[in-house]
Amino acid sequence: MEQYVIKGGNPLYGEVEIGGAKNAALAILAAAIMTDETVTIENLPNVRDINVLLQAIEEIGAQVDRVNLHKVKINGSFIRDVSVDNTFIRKIRASYYLIGALLGKYKRAEVALPGGCDIGSRPIDLHMKGFRAMGAKIDIAHGMVLAEAEKLTGTHIYLDKVSVGATINIMMAASMANGKTVIENAAKEPHVVDVANFLNSMGANIRGAGTDVVRIVGVEKLHKTEYSIIPDQIEAGTFMFAAAATGGDVLVKNVIPKHLEATTAKLLEVGCRVEEFDDAVRVISNGKLAHTQVTTLPYPGFPTDMQPQMAVLLGIADGTSTVTESIFENRFKYVDELTRMGANIKVESNIAIITGVKRYTGARVNAPDLRAGAALVIAGLIGEGITIVDDIYYIERGYEELHKKLGALGARIEKVSSDKEIQKFILKVS
Ligand code: UD1
Repeated sequence: MEQYVIKGGNPLYGEVEIGGAKNAALAILAAAIMTDETVTIENLPNVRDINVLLQAIEEIGAQVDRVNLHKVKINGSFIRDVSVDNTFIRKIRASYYLIGALLGKYKRAEVALPGGCDIGSRPIDLHMKGFRAMGAKIDIAHGMVLAEAEKLTGTHIYLDKVSVGATINIMMAASMANGKTVIENAAKEPHVVDVANFLNSMGANIRGAGTDVVRIVGVEKLHKTEYSIIPDQIEAGTFMFAAAATGGDVLVKNVIPKHLEATTAKLLEVGCRVEEFDDAVRVISNGKLAHTQVTTLPYPGFPTDMQPQMAVLLGIADGTSTVTESIFENRFKYVDELTRMGANIKVESNIAIITGVKRYTGARVNAPDLRAGAALVIAGLIGEGITIVDDIYYIERGYEELHKKLGALGARIEKVSSDKEIQKFILKVS
């Protein structure tokens, strides 16, 4: 088991380069198998979830040529099996994108039900509602989703709840359905737009992505493309918050500042300076933070994937803040861990009431999920003494070399895998 060991107290200074968006990449990789021609994808983040999905599509017969860590060529013409039950695929949420991709292309898909981070019940009923409305028969048995259609027919689909996954999944299947599909109350996240742009570059006909009505006219065939994935807004936001929390000055490069508006707005509210450039943002903080209120909402609202990082920031802000989680019901599991580091947080239903403390103190904590894990790392960066974050497996699902990128900004952090290595680190930094 690997851990991060951190000696807190160093403000972050310098520049950091943000990678491609994990959640866009997962959908794009699945969509890439929808053509029989070769698709080239660049700016791919080299994180665990991506590698699991690549392995799964390779196992059903797609040709996967990893040109380098951040570039892959995929050819879906060799797919011989529409049944995906790779040992690891159940662990990743985005396995559901293979249902939309395979159903669209082959009109049949058999995919292990998705897992992912345990941040609440995560139904996929809206995905299924969409596929059924297009004429598919869906069966769920033995942990697998079996979707089948003689033909998929375009239709009107109203999503009862704004869902990133359902919007993208339906968009994929509808790209190869007969006729026109209209998705109402669609998610507007940047990665929905990125996936639509990707599919359009393969010859799909999708209009309105990024608004709440997406219109798709099905095409018979998709073709080859070369595509570069958008920057990861959550990785960017995490570094912005780390700079803010540590009282640092960091230029976060290779970002689309527009995608970071909600994150930036909260940093301004707590008293940081944020400068925006064409493809970078600079966060300057003196470490003195003011309290505020935040509610997670679908884009362009404040992202639920930045909620734990926000709570860590507010935990050392002046006064009392509130964080309301409106997307997932079980996303405060890190609170107990943070409390062990000295935070003063009370959770009532879906609201965390945070009374700022002067400082956190280092402790041994568990990463309960991907984003909460990153948040605990930020807490470690400002904590007094040594923090050990266990279960960094979760963090590595979505952050590429987090410790190295933080280290380059001046953080004292190492990835270790034994108590001996932890002791060595402690000796080195003390
Ligand atoms: C995706 C992201 C995740 C992010 C989330 C919200 C991936 C792999 N994961 O997750 O990191 O936190 O968007 O931005 O891209 N819902 C239903 N029925 C459904 C689908 C969703 O009720 O069929 C509900 C969910 O329980 C949740 C809300 O809708 O309350 C939003 O979920 P959704 O946007 O679908 O999130 P995911 O696609 O799972």
